[in-house]
Amino acid sequence: MSNQRNTSQYAHYDVIIIGAGASGLYCALTAGRRGRRVLVLDHANKAGKKILMSGGGRCNFTNYFVEPEHFLGANQHFCKSALSRYPSWEFIAMVEAHKIPYHEREHGQLFCDDSAQDILSMLLDECAAAGVQVKLNAQIESVQTVENDKSARFQLLTTKQLSKKEKQERKEAANQTKLAQTGYCCESLVVATGGLSIPTMGASGLGYELAQQFGHTLIPTDASLVPFTFTDKTGELIRALSGISLPVIASNERISFKLPLLFTHRGLSGPSMLQLSNYWHTGETISINLLPETDTTALLLTHKKSHSKQLIRTVLADYTDNALPKKLLTALQTHLWEDIKDTELANIKDERLAELGASLNGWQLKPSGTEGYRTAEVTRGGVKTDEVSSKTMQSNLQEGLYFIGEVLDVTGWLGGYNFQWAWASGFVSGEIV
Ligand code: FDA
Repeated sequence: MSNQRNTSQYAHYDVIIIGAGASGLYCALTAGRRGRRVLVLDHANKAGKKILMSGGGRCNFTNYFVEPEHFLGANQHFCKSALSRYPSWEFIAMVEAHKIPYHEREHGQLFCDDSAQDILSMLLDECAAAGVQVKLNAQIESVQTVENDKSARFQLLTTKQLSKKEKQERKEAANQTKLAQTGYCCESLVVATGGLSIPTMGASGLGYELAQQFGHTLIPTDASLVPFTFTDKTGELIRALSGISLPVIASNERISFKLPLLFTHRGLSGPSMLQLSNYWHTGETISINLLPETDTTALLLTHKKSHSKQLIRTVLADYTDNALPKKLLTALQTHLWEDIKDTELANIKDERLAELGASLNGWQLKPSGTEGYRTAEVTRGGVKTDEVSSKTMQSNLQEGLYFIGEVLDVTGWLGGYNFQWAWASGFVSGEIV
C-alpha cells in the first residue's frame, strides 16, 4: 500500500480527519487546542448536516444519565473508557460557556431551546479558534500509507466533489477531462465518516471501505433507531390508525421500553419503537402492552362478576387507567373480538377473556421490516471494536489510524447518547492524535 509519489508535493498536516460531523469536529477542536495542525475533509457542501437535522432541529446533544448500558455493540465494554473520560457534563460546560440556551426533557435528554445550529456554530467556532482548517466538497479518491516516514504516514488524494448542477454541465459539455487532484499527507488519520443512515445528508460507506483496506473486520450494519413497517392486514390496521399516539411498553425477549408509540401511515414509530429497533432482527416478533398500567385479564374477569351485563368495549373505555383512544379501541375490537363485540361479559368464557387480556397486554406483531437507512437515525454495527483501542480509538492494525463516532460498532439509545458517543470518542482521540 505504499505510494510512489513524493510527499513534498502534498500539503502536510499533523492530523487529517475525514468527516466534518459530530465526532470529527470534536476530535479536530481537541487536537487543534493541543497545537496540532489539523485539517478536516468532508465531501458534503456543509459541515455537520446531521447535527442540524437532529432532535427535530433542536439537537438532543447529550443526556444527564449516560451509562454503558445505553449502548450496544459486539463488545459491550468498549465504550466505557471514553465515556468515563468525557462525561456529559464536559459537553454541557462547553454549551454553557457559549451561552447556548437549553432545556431538559424527560429521561434526562438535553435539547437546545432555539436551534441545533447553536451546537454546530459552537463546534465550528471552537475549531476556528484552535486553528483547525475545514475543507468541504472534498471527494476522497485514495488513502495510502507511506513507508518509513512517521510525519507523513498517510497520503490522501482528493478531487472537488461536484454539485448535481456541475455534474450535469460536465455531462452536457461531454467533458471527459479528469478533475484536478489535491494531495495531502499526515501523521495521524482519523476516520469520522459516520454511518449509512440518511444518504441524502452525505452518509457514505467510505469509513467501512477504509477499515477493510487496513485489514479491519466489519460487524454487519443495519438501519437502527428506525420505525417498523408492516404488510398485510396488520399493516392496513396500523395505517388506518395513523396519528394516534399512546404510552405503551414495547418489548422483545431482550429488552423492554415504557415509552410512547405512534401509529403512522407507514407503520409504527415513536420513541418506544425506535428504541426497540436497536434490539430487533428481521423476522422477530415484538410485543406491545397497550394498557401498561392495567392487568387487563384481571379487569375483565372481575367485571364479569361485578358488572356481568357490560360489553368488553365499555370496560376498556371506562375502567382502564389509561383508556385506549376510541378509534384504536374500535379497530382493536374489529381485529380481536369482532365475534363477541355485542356479547355481555356473563356470556363470554373466562378463557376467551383471558386470551383477550393477554393480547391487549402483549399485542404480538411481526414487522415486515423497517423504514431502512432512508429515515434511520443511526447505523448499527460497523468497525469491530476489538481491533481498536478503547482508550485512544487508534487501530490495533495500523499505527496512526483512528476510528471515531458512529463508524464504529457502538450504537446508542435514543436520547442524546449517540452524540455523547461522538463527543467522547472525538475527545479521547483528539487528545492523542
Ligand atoms: P456524522 O454523520 O455526524 O458525520 C459524518 C461526516 O462524514 C458527515 O459530515 C459526512 O458528510 C462525512 N462523510 C461521509 N462520507 C464521506 C466521504 N466519503 N468523504 C468525505 N466525507 C464523508 N443523535 C443524538 O444523540 N441526538 C439526536 O437528537 C439525534 N438526532 C438525529 C436525527 C436524525 C434525523 C439523524 C439521522 C441522526 C440523529 N442522531 C441523533 C444521531 C447522530 O446524528 C449521529 O449518531 C452522529 O451525528 C454521529 O456522528 P459522526 O461524527 O460519527 O457522524
